[in-house]
Amino acid sequence: MSGPRLIEFSKIGSPALGYITVGENSNLPFTIQRVYWTYFTPDSVIRGHHAHYDLEQMIFATSGRIEFLLEDSDGKEELFVLDSPNIGLYIPKGYWRTIKFSHNAVLMCLASKEYEEADYIRDYADFQQLKKRIKL
Ligand code: TYD
Repeated sequence: MSGPRLIEFSKIGSPALGYITVGENSNLPFTIQRVYWTYFTPDSVIRGHHAHYDLEQMIFATSGRIEFLLEDSDGKEELFVLDSPNIGLYIPKGYWRTIKFSHNAVLMCLASKEYEEADYIRDYADFQQLKKRIKL
């Protein structure tokens, strides 16, 4: 399986004690080079509007609810909903995303590369050109 997908991570704990979920290189499809998190995004704002040339990501809603609309290199769209802290969304390289957040959402991203602006495709027309140039 090579496309974007939801992956269920183990929960350690119990309803009485609470839970721990672990992301480490041995249970991810890539090696982690960066972790970032976003928060306080108003629910009226849509973020994203970009793809990546090379970056792979595992995204969690550690709190709240986050919707990812992903578009692949053939123009096919798929909606993923994150509302459980032990469910991650794996996003391979080359997917255009738009992201909506509930008011209390915290997004945590485990990423395969350090931040590099040159890895972003921020112009949708460029993304469409990429489809013609490269079969991802
Ligand atoms: P961006 O990835 O465009 O956010 P979103 O997809 O959530 O809208 O990043 C927003 C800004 O933050 C942009 O100016 C780049 C900067 N940024 C970093 O400097 N380092 C990082 O690791 C990330 C993810 C973003």
